[in-house]
Amino acid sequence: MKEKIHAQFVKRFGANGTFYASAGRINLIGEHTDYNGGFVFPGAIDKGMMAEIRLNGTDKVRVYSVDLDDYAEFGFAETDAPEASWARYVFGVCRETIKRCGGVLKGLDAAFAGDVPLGAGMSSSAALESTFAFALNDMFSLGIDKFELARIGQSTEHNYCGVNCGIMDQFASIFGKAGSLMRLDCRTMEYKYYPFHPKGYRLVLLDSVVKHELASSAYNKRRASCEHVVAAVKAAGYPVVEYLRDVDMKMLSEVRGVVSDEDYMRAEYVIEEIQRVLDVCDALERDDYETVGQKMYETHHGMSRLYEVSCEELDFLNDIARECGVTGSRVMGGGFGGCTINLVKDELYDGFIARAKKEYAAKFGHEPKVYPVVISDGARKLE
Ligand code: GLA
Repeated sequence: MKEKIHAQFVKRFGANGTFYASAGRINLIGEHTDYNGGFVFPGAIDKGMMAEIRLNGTDKVRVYSVDLDDYAEFGFAETDAPEASWARYVFGVCRETIKRCGGVLKGLDAAFAGDVPLGAGMSSSAALESTFAFALNDMFSLGIDKFELARIGQSTEHNYCGVNCGIMDQFASIFGKAGSLMRLDCRTMEYKYYPFHPKGYRLVLLDSVVKHELASSAYNKRRASCEHVVAAVKAAGYPVVEYLRDVDMKMLSEVRGVVSDEDYMRAEYVIEEIQRVLDVCDALERDDYETVGQKMYETHHGMSRLYEVSCEELDFLNDIARECGVTGSRVMGGGFGGCTINLVKDELYDGFIARAKKEYAAKFGHEPKVYPVVISDGARKLE
């Protein structure tokens, strides 16, 4: 990838720059819990984004997407936002960085490429944001801490891309460490690395290669449902409640009939899912992968039936996993397409993959893509 980027960088900008990279992510468990002040359990992966960048002595950013063969140029003023959606990520990161450090950025040339599949629920956009946030911080010696770098990516999604996301993806992309998953408390932002080498098991993603239109508006709608429930619970005599994290099933039952049935179901899923992350952490301390897997299936069920962010293709992949005796399987990430994440015993692996490919192709006309998970480092400068 480095060679490919460099060849284009030299061709367009005629010089050498500095390389930066960041990663996509998986999440073992804890979905749609981040913006509810709950726990998540992600890790960075060996697929990510890489950019070559250098100062160009102007007040413009000139950026080339190698994969899309597309070029954009913009200044740093709010009114300079580019049209292309990929370029808005880079623009957003520049703007959000300026908001945090005053107007010290100068013009840049950049070329970038990546190998995180787009729209597969592995956070290609967070990888791109984190690459640029990390790079700007380093190149201009801004001294922004790592949490704030993650927030730069998150605010880019909110303010320039229309997705009201939580912090998980950008956190994973910035803080990721090879061989470790991370449990993050999204309320206090306390986190802990969990070395993850499940002996006798593998983690593998099956990509349905489906991406549903309106995924981002449906995502924002889920978040709004959670906020409605929080407001209702507050009004029902619990003024200190800030997030669904603070709500238990008894409190939720007190607003049944006050909130819509749909909002109620959404909240039920979130409250259960936050607890599942803690249960999985306990199970991991005991090397109890059967419980980890069981919780993953419960998450799938909740995401499919209560949160309603699965789809026919992902439910199908989940059913095959269960039939093959896979230890744990569930839809990963925001949902509405993308991947399942599967915890599979070594001896079942080949049979599971073969059967999933065959049966999925027979039903949907193409095979799922298969990505073995390698837990890797997050944002970094490449020497
Ligand atoms: C997307 C968002 C994250 C998180 C997940 C669901 O990936 O960007 O913040 O909410 O969905 O867990």
